[in-house]
Amino acid sequence: MDRNLLSKTAAAMVARGKGLLAADESSGTCEKRFKSVGVECTEANRRVYRDLLFTTKGIEEFVSGVILFDETLRQSTVSGNEPFPRYLEKKGVIPGIKVDKGTHDLARSPGEKVTEGLDGLRGRLEDYFGLGARFAKWRAVITIGAGIPSHACIYANAHALARYSALCQEASIVPIVEPEVLLDGDHTIERCYEATEATLSAVFAALRAHNVSFEHTVLKASMVVSGKDCPKQAGVERVAEETVRCLKRTVPAALPGVVFLSGGQSDEAATAHLNEMARMPGLPWPLTFSYSRALQNPCLKSWRGQSGNVAAAQRAFYHRARMNGLAAQGKYRPELEKQAA
Ligand code: 13P
Repeated sequence: MDRNLLSKTAAAMVARGKGLLAADESSGTCEKRFKSVGVECTEANRRVYRDLLFTTKGIEEFVSGVILFDETLRQSTVSGNEPFPRYLEKKGVIPGIKVDKGTHDLARSPGEKVTEGLDGLRGRLEDYFGLGARFAKWRAVITIGAGIPSHACIYANAHALARYSALCQEASIVPIVEPEVLLDGDHTIERCYEATEATLSAVFAALRAHNVSFEHTVLKASMVVSGKDCPKQAGVERVAEETVRCLKRTVPAALPGVVFLSGGQSDEAATAHLNEMARMPGLPWPLTFSYSRALQNPCLKSWRGQSGNVAAAQRAFYHRARMNGLAAQGKYRPELEKQAA
């Protein structure tokens, strides 16, 4: 465990005005995204699309690191055939890797999931470090519904996150701990708050029990929001207040930073929420983005698999990255959206 490297990586991940691009969609998720714009989900197309994202000029101004999927970590740029991790690193963008093996039904807990992937993880982390990955991600999923999340689901996932984090640190890889409380459902923001607080409390208790160093761990949190189908939707200020209140009550101040997922929020809502939080005085940690959909949606829609659309798609991606870079500093204003491609 190289503490200096871990500190350096974690600080760079949450450097001021920068955040993470989550481009670690599994091939299944990628298929869904590509299908929505009529692109066939082949390995070649996935490579071309990731190449489009990574080679966008100037993204390193706002993007500190990229979370990659195993396949992408082993692929190369289209022109130049340079391995993606090396290309990113030369650009000043840290390569990261999703290491969990996805969510599976939790036994005897209908409607709930547990994330798998601990078996053999120590060896995989060693390989990933050799391929250039300096941080990792593990996503746990917590669902809100009738009688859930259950104690069993929260604790099974917290335990896995803690074991994953300890293994990462041992390999000098910064763990991103992602317990995502899903947006799906008609629950109120109050229920989302309760589920998020219970989840984060359990996660940090488990990290402590497994001797995980808080100083070398980044939290990827979901925001405290109203369920997608809740008739009463909390506004931007309320979301920011409840999210920060929840984090302050559960997340150790020793953490180098907190990043957020977008979770199916609209692009502009994800940006506005982050901005409102970053404006708050006296935050114990830097807050920034680690978005997949909220950074990529407009880009994917412009691209549609056509090489003639690459420049427009890159402009769309650059614009969203810039808006979120500003939001991470509390400097975003909706009027800036007009400068879009
Ligand atoms: P979204 O921003 O699309 O929620 O994705 C972030 C992520 O990495 C989920 O694991």
